[in-house]
Amino acid sequence: MAVDRIKTGMDGLDRILCGGIPQGSLVLVAGSAGTGKTTLAMQFICEGARNGERTCYISITEPIEVLKKNSENFRFFSPSFVITNMIYMIDLRGISANLGIKGNYTADDENTLIGIIEKVVNELKVKRLVIDSITAICSKLEEKGRIRDFIFKLGYIISESGCTTMITSETAPGENRYSQYGVEEFICDGIILLSEKERKGDLIRCLRAVKMRGTNHSRSTYMMDISENGIALAPMLKDYA
Ligand SMILES: Nc1ncnc2c1ncn2[C@@H]1O[C@H](COP(=O)(O)OP(=O)(O)OP(=O)(O)O)[C@@H](O)[C@H]1O
Ligand SMILES: [Mg+2]
Repeated sequence: MAVDRIKTGMDGLDRILCGGIPQGSLVLVAGSAGTGKTTLAMQFICEGARNGERTCYISITEPIEVLKKNSENFRFFSPSFVITNMIYMIDLRGISANLGIKGNYTADDENTLIGIIEKVVNELKVKRLVIDSITAICSKLEEKGRIRDFIFKLGYIISESGCTTMITSETAPGENRYSQYGVEEFICDGIILLSEKERKGDLIRCLRAVKMRGTNHSRSTYMMDISENGIALAPMLKDYA
């Protein structure tokens, strides 16, 4: 049976993924600081909002006002998406503070958080969800077993609802891994790796689809450009590979 595809809003990425992300997937967007994780995730969300889908962006590392202001630099974003709640923005740090959650998450805090995500996804009938970053949540769960459990629960919620989700993962530059705790990538359906290569004094942005369950895809590394038009991909020149 053919899978339903969710267009990412980035033509190059959709081509790499043979038409888009299989609907209901949980995709890890991994990369070091400044590699474009937030931009890619926001462009994916805006593509949904533009097509009349309800979406939700849960930000942990950046305050919502900063995220909105930065997003306004891109043509794919419109403030009206947020005003009309086509993009429902959640500041998880603000929510945690309001709930009196300090420091690491207890089992109760973890359940509260999962409950909030479940409620938003189901009640708003969210079709696209972003959690930026999962690393920030993992750091408050500390143990690998709890991290695995949390991502499993998240995967269950989204697979039940058919919501397609991107979670961002912060890695150290040049590190040959996709996450800080080494469990996130095994639970996710897909991994998109963002990196940089130094070439003649320039830093070249790179993107590679490492895995995407349920579809064929290119495993080549592509050159990535970020401009006001968003993310564009081009085949890696032999010189740069
Ligand atoms: N309007 C723009 N035009 C071109 N490049 C831009 C524009 N806005 C941002 N960038 C580039 O994108 C980079 C930041 O991308 P982004 O915030 O998506 O990265 P990130 O991987 O989420 O970073 P972090 O790990 O710090 O959260 C900037 O460092 C800048 O080089
Ligand atoms: Mg970011």
